[in-house]
Amino acid sequence: MAAMWSPIIGLLLLLLPLAPSSASYIKYPLEGNVYPTGHFLVTMNIGEPLQPYSLDIDTGSNVTWLECQHPHHRCHGSPGVKRFYKPGPANLRVDCKDPFCTSLHADLPGRRPRCPRKHPHECHYEIGYVDMRTQGVLVNDTISLGGGRNELIVFGCGYDQRLKNLPGPKPTPAPAAHGLLGLGMGKVGFVAQLKAHGVITKDVIGHCLSSSSSRKGGGYLFIGDYDKLPSTGMTWAPLKKYGLHYSPGQATLHLDGQQIYANGMNVVFDSGATYTYVPTQIYKPLVAKLKAIIGNTLDPVRHHALPNCWMRRGTVEPFDDVSRPSGILTLRFDNNIVMTLLPKNYLIRVENNIACLGILNGSDVGQNERIIIGDATMRDMLVVYDNEQGRIGWASGDCKYSATTSRL
Ligand SMILES: *[C@@H]1O[C@H](CO)[C@@H](O)[C@H](O)[C@H]1NC(C)=O
Ligand SMILES: *[C@@H]1O[C@H](CO)[C@@H](O)[C@H](O)[C@H]1NC(C)=O
Ligand SMILES: *[C@@H]1O[C@H](CO)[C@@H](O)[C@H](O)[C@H]1NC(C)=O
Repeated sequence: MAAMWSPIIGLLLLLLPLAPSSASYIKYPLEGNVYPTGHFLVTMNIGEPLQPYSLDIDTGSNVTWLECQHPHHRCHGSPGVKRFYKPGPANLRVDCKDPFCTSLHADLPGRRPRCPRKHPHECHYEIGYVDMRTQGVLVNDTISLGGGRNELIVFGCGYDQRLKNLPGPKPTPAPAAHGLLGLGMGKVGFVAQLKAHGVITKDVIGHCLSSSSSRKGGGYLFIGDYDKLPSTGMTWAPLKKYGLHYSPGQATLHLDGQQIYANGMNVVFDSGATYTYVPTQIYKPLVAKLKAIIGNTLDPVRHHALPNCWMRRGTVEPFDDVSRPSGILTLRFDNNIVMTLLPKNYLIRVENNIACLGILNGSDVGQNERIIIGDATMRDMLVVYDNEQGRIGWASGDCKYSATTSRL
């Protein structure tokens, strides 16, 4: 009897990897918080031998890079970095003429670097972020995806990182970060490479950032065809072409139903931004109105963390109840798509009895014409960037990481 089954099982095994309904995804726990860490980090094992590195997850940029000790370039790491990635000579040979390098250069905003005659075997890049810039070269090395599966991935060896000198609150250095995981669109992205290698079938990214202030329990990140999206409660908006960013287009901002500023503004979802930024023309009236509402229940107080802070009166009301049922922000997009933000999506607890506004003046960091939705606002929310169907979705929820294994 048993012998009769074996050809059938053989056939099933052959068909299994091709079955279109099989979801493939990778799920990682996140560490970190908005305050005091300022970053959400994923740990990945990289290189030969494999070593753990913590990467800041950034849906606002394309290129993944590690703080790197390059054998020939003079190195300048970010402040506080204690361990650097050291590529071997073979890892460093990603040619300037390689298609990866060409698409990387095509993706970089501004000046397109040309291939220098002196270093044809180096793909050099320079990237400017809101608060820092980085320089490096592309390398090719092993990244472990868990469950014994390793892939060769092209990423950056960042040998020169410098913070920009900006007004406003200083970005907190990420003490535990060894680099950045670029989750933006584009061929050189980590997720696009996993899809090109057939590891995952769909270029979809999701994160759920926990509001828990402990470093552990920071939520989770998934990449690929995640089959556990909530079947109800997700709001989806089509992705609009807006420069280099994940954006559902323009929205107007309202506080308790009252419009704050006459014009719509492009909205960008960017997990690389710790706080939410609005241009000064929104910031000024918004802060004035919020001060009036929050001042009903809390006392203003100075705190070094952020510009606008309040202290609880006595021990009665917890911050989550602040200004309820008022203090509700809504972003209204086209086609009646609405994103609702409760006080917990914009107030950050910095001490047991002190909370500060997690919305900052974007004009201070050169962001004069868009709203950047940062980590502070995306806490306790599942946010999904679906590059297959060209849409972005969100749902409020619990961001606890349960150790369900990745499905590859
Ligand atoms: C990365 O290395 C592998 C193995 O050495 C090689 O096959 C592949 O072409 C390299 N990729 C790039 C972009 O250089
Ligand atoms: C990433 O690269 C793609 C092109 O491949 C580009 O369309 C996109 O705007 C880039 N995104 C970011 C955030 O740099
Ligand atoms: C916002 O920042 C800009 C640029 O630094 C500054 O001119 C403006 O006064 C700021 N607005 C508020 C309300 O702080």
